Amino acid sequence: MANENAAASGEFKIGGDLKVTRLGFGAMRITGKGIWEQPADVAEAKRTLALIPELGIDLIDTADSYGPFVSEDLIAEVLAPYKGLTIATKGGLTRHGPDIWKPVGRPEYLRQCVLMSLRRLKLERLDLWQLHRIDPKVPAEEQFGEIGAMRKEGLIRHVGLSEVSVEEIEAAQKHFPVATVQNRYNLVDRKSEDVLDYCEKHGIGFIPWAPLAAGSLAREGSTLTEIAGRLKTGPSQVALAWVLKRSPVMIPIPGTSSTGHLRENVAGAAIELSDRDFSALDAQGREVWRSQSN
Ligand SMILES: NC(=O)c1ccc[n+]([C@@H]2O[C@H](COP(=O)([O-])OP(=O)(O)OC[C@H]3O[C@@H](n4cnc5c(N)ncnc54)[C@H](OP(=O)(O)O)[C@@H]3O)[C@@H](O)[C@H]2O)c1
Repeated sequence: MANENAAASGEFKIGGDLKVTRLGFGAMRITGKGIWEQPADVAEAKRTLALIPELGIDLIDTADSYGPFVSEDLIAEVLAPYKGLTIATKGGLTRHGPDIWKPVGRPEYLRQCVLMSLRRLKLERLDLWQLHRIDPKVPAEEQFGEIGAMRKEGLIRHVGLSEVSVEEIEAAQKHFPVATVQNRYNLVDRKSEDVLDYCEKHGIGFIPWAPLAAGSLAREGSTLTEIAGRLKTGPSQVALAWVLKRSPVMIPIPGTSSTGHLRENVAGAAIELSDRDFSALDAQGREVWRSQSN
């Protein structure tokens, strides 16, 4: 593989003081179908986790709801006591079965999420805890207030939000500094451009989920496959390189349950896209996004 170290992606300081390599790992895929129960190949999932630090990745994104609990448990089993790794987790979503996710933002439940993640991950403080979703049935100030209190108590070091608007980030900032935002974002999903620009302006880390997706741009003969062919790599890696080049606050967390794909994604971090290739992909991605959203 061309470059087997994530360091090529550069660094970002979460909350101004938690340094991470920009290419992280998303641990949602080390679970079963529908992000439910154990992964099909537990041994390979464990090998994938064990390979992460060897490849220079030092940020793992997970959530209590992945499995549920399976992802956090496997991470702790394979990687605790972590030595230089940052484990970012999330809470606030309950699970009722495969692919079923229900937000619960009552303060007492959010506190339980944090306390149980600490226990499962074998940590005394969560370096980055993210509210998975704002629960629309609970006043946002109650959710933010409890999170702010847990931060002041030292249970959480930095707080992140997920799937939020600029207005929601600003509302949360009254209760705690927002260190990261995790929204769906990739070449062909551009609905969070305004949120990304806001994050860049304010030094907030932007964690794009589904960063590898390239939709119809991955078809034979497209600009994406032409660039991938020229750079002797695959469309997923070029999509990832594009995301990384898009902004210095970008911290992508591609997810996989296989060592082979993990190595491929790390190689993607080392690809240096020319400005010309970047702009061509940008324009096509926006075009696909516009046609999909009309
Ligand atoms: N905040 C949220 O609401 C939210 C929602 C969803 C996800 N997330 C987070 O974001 C992370 C990434 O999101 P995601 O998993 O949906 O999207 P992704 O990382 O863009 O794509 C993952 C999918 O691509 C496959 N894949 C990975 N590397 C590949 C490669 N090199 N070549 C071909 N296929 C490859 C994986 O399958 P294999 O396992 O077979 O490699 C998996 O099906 C998750 O792990 C999770 O931590 C957050």
